[in-house]
Amino acid sequence: KQRIGILTSGGDCPGLNAVIRGAVKASHQLGYDCVGFLKGYEGLYDPVQYVHLTPSSTRGILSQGGTILGSTNKGRFAATVGVQDRQEIEPYLIEGVKNTIEQLGITGLVCVGGDGSLAVAQQFHEQGIPVVGVPKTIDNDLSATAFTFGFDSAVECATDALDRLHTTAASHERIMVLEVMGRHAGWIALHAGIAGGGDVILLPEIEWNWDHVCHKILQRESQGKKFTLVVVAEGAHLPGGDLVGEQRSGAQMKLGGIGRTVCDEIEHRLQREVRLSVLGHLQRGGQPTTFDRVLATQYGAHAVRLVHQKKFGEMLCYQPPEMTSVPIMEAVNVLRRVDVNGAAVQAARALGISFGDRPV
Ligand code: F6P
Repeated sequence: KQRIGILTSGGDCPGLNAVIRGAVKASHQLGYDCVGFLKGYEGLYDPVQYVHLTPSSTRGILSQGGTILGSTNKGRFAATVGVQDRQEIEPYLIEGVKNTIEQLGITGLVCVGGDGSLAVAQQFHEQGIPVVGVPKTIDNDLSATAFTFGFDSAVECATDALDRLHTTAASHERIMVLEVMGRHAGWIALHAGIAGGGDVILLPEIEWNWDHVCHKILQRESQGKKFTLVVVAEGAHLPGGDLVGEQRSGAQMKLGGIGRTVCDEIEHRLQREVRLSVLGHLQRGGQPTTFDRVLATQYGAHAVRLVHQKKFGEMLCYQPPEMTSVPIMEAVNVLRRVDVNGAAVQAARALGISFGDRPV
């Protein structure tokens, strides 16, 4: 019997289990066996760690957050495939993985991961290891695919937080700052900001300044609205392109960095009560939304189709209503940022939402 391997790599997100279940069920239909490697790429070698996956062993996981296979962020298999910077996976690891694939009789390996994890998959492909990629990130910033699963669940979480902040902000006539995830792109901030009635949305894609932010707050006050909700993406830059502490040192951003600065500066400039909430990993945990379950299930099923068709080295991409694929190499390293002239930003502006870049 032929066999399909699957692994989940990088930061987790809601919907990973739905991908696993979808792939297992679809494999079963086509007569493949399925194994799941544990802890991302780590489970492929020294020690090889895997479990047999069957429709019955994956029963009930559709609605569960996280990943039953576990995941590793930045383990031994770190790689980049950029034009200028290319970090190679150690040859002994590649050899080890080849052995595992051969010994277990794996026809194709489904790698579910974000940019970094897909770079590993690309290097595997170049070395003749049969892989297909499934894009994953709550940040929704992978190119070639309109939506990544997990994004909708994260937006749902951030919107719920804004709903809650709304009532307490109104009661206390306060300014509330909510920092949401989005290291390079402001998709979560934009969508949750619109869905949760944010008044100011600060994104990495739009240069903003303190005067416009404060002006919006004062304008609301003059209209009798004594509270304001400010949504800020963790990757937003300070005015003038200035970087927040960790951004400046080039290190991984600490959650709460930009949110704290925004909160303190507004407090200082306007002498009002401002409070900060940092949503952090709450956005990555918990049950996937129905949208993400449907999307993730499609990714799982179509990943099996790609293996069956031997379309290795490809990454699935959802371009509604199609689920197509592109070479992984075309998809990695190209961030999909918020379109600053897109329909969502335009609609937000039409409503009077401020992006801090101009008077409203
Ligand atoms: O890439 C997704 C993401 O959610 C980012 O928005 C965030 O910076 C990062 O993961 C944090 O991940 P971790 O704490 O696992 O390093």
